Order: sequence, then C-alpha cells, then structure tokens
Amino acid sequence: MTDERKNVLKRMNELVEAISYHDRKYYVDDDPEISDFEYDMLVKELEGLESDYPDMMFPESPTQRVSGEPLDEFPQVEHGLSMLSLDNCYSPEELREFDQRVSKWLEGESVEYVVELKVDGLGIALIYEEGMLVRGATRGDGRTGEDVTSNVKTIRSIPLRLAPGSALAGAEVRGEVYMPTESFSRLNNEREEAGLTPFANPRNAAAGSIRQLDPRVAASRPLEAVFYSLSHSDGPMPSTHHQCLDALRQSGLRTCPHVARFRSIGEVLDHIMAWESRRDTVGFEVDGMVVKVDSLDQQTRLGHTAKNPRWAIAYKFPPKQMTTKLLEIRVQVGRTGALTPVAVLEPVEIGGVSVSRSTLHNEGEVRRKGLMIGDQVLVERAGDVIPQVVKPIVERRTGDETEFVMPTHCPACGSETAREEGEAVRRCVNASCPAQVKERLLHFCSRDAMDLDGIGPSLIDQLVDSELVDDAADLYSLSPSDLTGLEGVADRSSANIVAAIDSSRARGFERLLFALGIRHVGATTARDLARAFGDIDAIISAPEDELSKVPGIGAVVASSVRQFFDRTENLSLVERLRGQRLNMTASNPRSGPLEGKTFLFTGELRSMSRQEAGSLVESLGGQVASSVSKAVDFVVAGENPGSKLANARKLSKKILHEEEFLRVVKAD
Ligand code: IVH
Repeated sequence: MTDERKNVLKRMNELVEAISYHDRKYYVDDDPEISDFEYDMLVKELEGLESDYPDMMFPESPTQRVSGEPLDEFPQVEHGLSMLSLDNCYSPEELREFDQRVSKWLEGESVEYVVELKVDGLGIALIYEEGMLVRGATRGDGRTGEDVTSNVKTIRSIPLRLAPGSALAGAEVRGEVYMPTESFSRLNNEREEAGLTPFANPRNAAAGSIRQLDPRVAASRPLEAVFYSLSHSDGPMPSTHHQCLDALRQSGLRTCPHVARFRSIGEVLDHIMAWESRRDTVGFEVDGMVVKVDSLDQQTRLGHTAKNPRWAIAYKFPPKQMTTKLLEIRVQVGRTGALTPVAVLEPVEIGGVSVSRSTLHNEGEVRRKGLMIGDQVLVERAGDVIPQVVKPIVERRTGDETEFVMPTHCPACGSETAREEGEAVRRCVNASCPAQVKERLLHFCSRDAMDLDGIGPSLIDQLVDSELVDDAADLYSLSPSDLTGLEGVADRSSANIVAAIDSSRARGFERLLFALGIRHVGATTARDLARAFGDIDAIISAPEDELSKVPGIGAVVASSVRQFFDRTENLSLVERLRGQRLNMTASNPRSGPLEGKTFLFTGELRSMSRQEAGSLVESLGGQVASSVSKAVDFVVAGENPGSKLANARKLSKKILHEEEFLRVVKAD
C-alpha cells in the first residue's frame, strides 16, 4: 500500500471512530460534545475521502446507514436462543405472589430485583461479530423472526460498531425499537396532510417502519431503540443483570432509562406505584414495568416455562385501550368535500378522558377493519393522538350487527359524490355544499390559520344559515350589528369579534395561504411555499413544475396547488380577500437578527400564544422546532412546561423564561 493510501486509511478510521464517538455522546449519553456544524464537517470530510477512494470505504462507515435495494420480502431467520415473552401481572398482590414463587424456587435465598420501564415498541435482536453489527432481526414468533438488518442500520442510536474497549466483541443483544410520542404525532400529521391513513399508535408505527421493504423509507421514520438484555457474549458474562446493562452502555448501546435496583418486593412496589403517574413524562409509550431477578446465576436456576422466564415479570399499567359499543357510523363532510365516516361510541373512559367519537378516516378503513354497526370494538388512546378504533371483537357478535354502507349522495346537500381513481376518499362534488362552506370557514378561523378564536362552529352555522357569510372574505364586511342577536353572542362580544377579524388582516401571509384550505397544504407546506415564492401572485402564476421544485413540495402537493388556483371561484376569493387588505406578501424570512437560531417552545406563555411567539421568531429570521434536538439553540419555557423541558435540560440547552425571551426578541 502506498504511503498516501495508508494515510487515507488512517484518517478514514479516525473519522469513523470520531463520528461513532459523537453519535454515542449524543444518542446514548445525551451529552453532546461538539456542535452540529463540527459534526457535519467530520461527516463531510469522510464522505469526501470515500468518494475519492471508494475501495477503501469501511463497511460500518456512518455514511452507510441507508444502503441496499428495496426487498420483495424479508429473509426469515432463526433465533439461536428463543426470544421469550414476559408473564404479566396487574396488581400488587400478583406481584407479591411472583416474589413468593421466586423465593420458594430459590429456597429462601435473598433476591435483588432490577426494575425497568416496559417500552411499548417491538422486540429486536442484534448480533455483533468482532464488534460489528452483522444482523438485526425482529422477534417474530419468538423462534423465527425477520432479517431487518438494513432497516436497523438506519436507526442512528444503534451503533454499527461497538465502542472501542467494549467487553462485547461478539454478542447478541436484545431490546425494543420504538417511536417517541412526539415524532409519532408529527409523522401522523404529515400522513394526514398527504392523504394517508395515520397509524393507530406508536407501536404500530414502529412495527410498520422497521418492516418497510425499502430501507430509504425506514430511514425517514423517526425510530429509536433501547436495549435490555445481553443474551449471549463470546467473552465472559457478567454475574448480574445490572452489570450486563453497564456492559451494553459501555459498548455504546442505549439502555432503558430509569433502571433501579431493590432488595425487597415492597420497595419494588413503591417504585412501580410512583412510576404509574409518571408514565406520560418520558416521551415514549410505557405500558408497564419489568421486574427482573438481578443475579444471572439465580436466573439460570429459576429457568423458564415454555413461554416465559420464571425470573422476570411485567407489571402492566392500566391499558389505554378499552372496549365499547359502536353505536353508529356517521358521515361528515369536510372542507374539501371529503366524506369521513365517524364512529359514534358508547362513551368510555380511557386514561382519564371520556371517548365517544373517533374518526374512521374513509370507507376503505371501515372495510379493512371489518367493522359493523353494533359491534363491540377495541378503542385506543395512545400518545397525544385522537382515539382510534383498533378492531371489532368478532367473538362478541350477536347477529344483530349491521353493515355500514357509504352513502352515494352527500348527507349534507344531497349532491352526488365521486371517488377519484387511486383515492381512498369519496367527495361531495358541490363546492357550495353548506357543510363544505362551514368547514372551510372553520378552518380559516382555526388557530394555526387566522386564529379567530371567538368564531366557533355555532357562530359559523348561524352566519352561513342566515346567508350573512358565504366565504372567508364575507367575514371582513361583518359589522357588530350583524352579530348582535345571534345565539351565544353578547352585545359586547359582537364588537370584540369584529375587532378580532379586523386585526387578523395583518397575520402573516403563510397563515393566510394555509387558511385558504388548499388540499394537502398544511401549515408547514404553506410556510415553505410562502417563503419560496414571496407573494400570492407568484404562486398563482407558477406552473406545476416550478411548484414542485420547492424542497418539501412533492408532485401531489404541486398538482393540488395548481388545481386550486386554476379554479375561478378560488381566484375570485383571493381577489376579494385582497380587496379586504389581507396580507398577501411574505415578510423576508431568512434574514433577520435571529437568523440561524432555532427556538423551541414548551408550556404556556402569559403574554402571547405559542403560535404568536413562533411567528415573532420567524419574522425575525429565526426558526421554530417542535422537539428537542441538536438543532435547537434556545428552549423557551412557559408555565406548566412538558417533558421537552426535562429533555432540554439533559441536553444542556439554553433555557429562557418568558421575560428573558421577550428581552431577546426585543433586543435583537
Ligand atoms: S425483558 C425474556 N425488558 O416486552 C424476557 N422486555 O411482553 C425478555 N419489553 O418481548 C424481555 N421493555 O419486547 C424486557 N425492559 C424490558 C422491556 C421488554 C419492553 C418487551 C419485549 C418483550 C415484551 C414482553
């Protein structure tokens, strides 16, 4: 090998090691040492060398996380050691019985227990050989799983190479792949914006993502992983479970956060009870706690049954799922005419909230789930999402259930409905259908749009029914006397509502663009379009291919925007809004005193809504993030901040209180 190649190889190795080290600091230790910029520079340098010397590339290079072609199916793999599942218990008494069984088997020896969070995702097993990740497989039925190595490699918190000095050169480790709740909500919002059916819960989203045949799709999904067991090591095994966890951590594998060790079942129970009310604070779904005998020698002596180890048990928290009766399926008409079947349920309390409605998305979903009216159904409330009907309990059918038939005519105006090819949704074709008019107005007034919070469904119903308002532009010619006398509007509030409508003329252009209710254009897309084109006229005259050149705007969105502005009634609405002096030009977003700074808001602010604070940051050239990440520079903490604040503290982010934030915005 020439000296030059030797030097390149040495530098490549240094870079791979440095990047893995910083990945570890960031993902495993939550304690990053370098800035995003410095990290990106390391990756860029490595990419440069790899493109000049492709034959010398390291297979475990961090640039190779997304690789491989889409598959037709996953190869099956057999687990060397079966992946057992856990016995469950639901009450302190049952947990005490578990402790008594353990004690009996061990003939009264003293036992230490390790207690971990039970992460609600899906089990995976990773194999490392000579420190390199060689295989990732799903649990499957416990004996045989699927080889999802390419997808596992896309998860940034999973090391492709174990940390130098790791005691585990060759090992099998087991853990859970999951989707954090915030990422899950964001993914579902994006899916809804794109007309796709959202996932019912973070577990389904994680399972669907890790089983994606195209690794590029898997890479785009916000998956994370934690590890809770060292099932095999080529080297000497530690003597306790908690030492195994230490070894995993030292090797650069993330372990379950909040692991604790106790000498008695009483302490274990106190700990579990304290966690039951904290389960929503960790940022991912926790469906219980796992109690494990710490000593591996005792574990071996306890052994296992056909399905479960005798040395561990899951204490399950009350489920966020309940069964209830599906009383009726109502069909609602949305602002784009979409007919949405909605489940009307016998009210049931899930996780402290009464649930009586749940969207069924479209007729295909009703069919796919096999729902019949009158069914007992399983309903779930997971993450921050709206409740979802998971499935019917077919075993509990009585024969009195009836099939749901999607109406062929609009339930609001009686017009015909149509389903475009390739679309899951049926729509009412009448643009002046009163249900559509009302929904469009509600959307226009909604929080992320023009934020007219004095105008709710009941007022809109009355305004449309009395023909005072036909579309958004009409709102701007209302006078207080038009509103006085309407149900729920006091004399004084009619003036306030008109004043609020008046002041909304100055809202940012991106909000107006979102408020127009163009299909597939959510708040983020509206902002991207507004920034890219600068004003409404540039968007109105842009051909489809110009629109789709904007990063983040795909063919579907571009075509939908084009179709919207090709319709004369929409153009005339824009003209009438312009006549009402609404803001149709973007403020210059990229330059400003906060340029390059990203803010994250958590909790409630006293002086303004989070939306307003976000717009303020953006108007000064800054950006707003929705979750804690490397990119965030400042976290603004209002009252009752959520788990984001705790995460931000862990990552040593600069935290600003409201007063400090106001000073920053004003000083800049
Ligand atoms: S230990 C032999 N620890 O729960 C026992 N499992 O219902 C191996 N899970 O299949 C499992 N968090 O996928 C263990 N801290 C934890 C866990 C955990 C989640 C999952 C795992 C397992 C399932 C059993």
